[in-house]
Amino acid sequence: MAILKIARMGHSVLHQVAEPVDDPASPEVTAIVRDMIETLDDAGGIGLAAPQVHIPKRIVVFFIPGARANPDAGDGDGEEGDDHHDDGGIDLTIMINPEIIPVGDEMDLDWEACLSVPDMMGAVSRHSAIRYRWQTLDGETMEREASGFHARAVQHECDHLDGILYPMRMEDLSLFGFAEEVNRNKSLLARPNPEVDDAPDEEEEEA
Ligand code: NI
Repeated sequence: MAILKIARMGHSVLHQVAEPVDDPASPEVTAIVRDMIETLDDAGGIGLAAPQVHIPKRIVVFFIPGARANPDAGDGDGEEGDDHHDDGGIDLTIMINPEIIPVGDEMDLDWEACLSVPDMMGAVSRHSAIRYRWQTLDGETMEREASGFHARAVQHECDHLDGILYPMRMEDLSLFGFAEEVNRNKSLLARPNPEVDDAPDEEEEEA
C-alpha cells in the first residue's frame, strides 16, 4: 500500500485520454485501486481518477457522503443492493472502464473542486441526471442511475479519464476562485443557483 502523489493541472498525464483496462481482475489493477483508495482517504477527497495519480488508465474510485447527496437520489431502484443509503449517500465504489449516458437534457450549474486543482473552486454545468455503467474488480458489469451531486461527481471523475479538468468546462470564469475567498463571498456562492439554497457552507469536497 502506498499514498501516491497527486498530479496537478498542467501535468501531461491529466490532459490525455486514459487507456481502457483490459483485465479488471488482474493483480496489477487491484494494487492500483488499493493505492488510489489510500491516497483518496489521505487527501480527504470524495473521488479520485487514476490519471490524478499519474496512471493513465480508466479507473475511478469515489463515494458520496450522505450530507452532500441529492435527497431524492437515495432510494435507487432496489437492484443495486445496499450501497444506496436512505440519506442519498453512496458507498465507496470502484469503477473500471466507466461510461456515462445522460438522461434528459436538463443541466445544473453548481460548484466543484478538484484535488488536481488545489485550493480553487468553480461553478460548472453538468447533466442533472445520468445512467452510468462500469466493470468491477471481478469484471462484472454494473449500472446505476444518478442525479444531483451524485451525477455531478461521476461526471467530474469520468472527465478525468478523457483529459478534462473542471475549469475546462467552465463558461463563466467569474465563478472561479480560491475556495477560501469564494466561501467567504456569500453573494458569489449563491449565484449559480439563487433559487436553490444549495451552496456549500464551508469547503467544497474535492474530487
Ligand atoms: Ni477532480
